[in-house]
Amino acid sequence: MWLLLSLIVFTCAREPSSPICSRYDYEERLLERVLRNELALETTLNDILKTNAKVIDALKLLEDGKEKVESTLADMEKKQIDIESRLAGFISDSTHVMKSTLDATVVALVETSSEIKENASVTKQQLVYEVRVLKGKFS
Ligand SMILES: *[C@@H]1O[C@H](CO)[C@@H](O)[C@H](O)[C@H]1NC(C)=O
Repeated sequence: MWLLLSLIVFTCAREPSSPICSRYDYEERLLERVLRNELALETTLNDILKTNAKVIDALKLLEDGKEKVESTLADMEKKQIDIESRLAGFISDSTHVMKSTLDATVVALVETSSEIKENASVTKQQLVYEVRVLKGKFS
């Protein structure tokens, strides 16, 4: 095989126009083309692998970002629920305090008004008594 190849190369060096040379030349160029294509394919494959790795990294980043957003949203939801329940508790407490304060005020007002009535009646009785005493003194 090696001998045959050497013979072809030797012959072609001496006689480039012989048909065996053109056939050899054709096959050599074909082989070169195949090799170049293979190299180009390998480069393309490497590029594809690199791009794929980048895409995977980007997807991971996106996934991480999504998880962060989701956990932040969950935190916010928890805080909102907490605020709402505290607000509801505050409103309920305030309503309770206002109601009992109002009740106590009404009770105090009723007590005071009946006390005023009593005092007025006492004062009236005293006045009637004093007028009677004065009338007795001057009659
Ligand atoms: C009613 O009379 C009592 C005794 O004099 C007094 O202590 C009280 O303050 C009076 N109440 C009002 C509402 O004036």
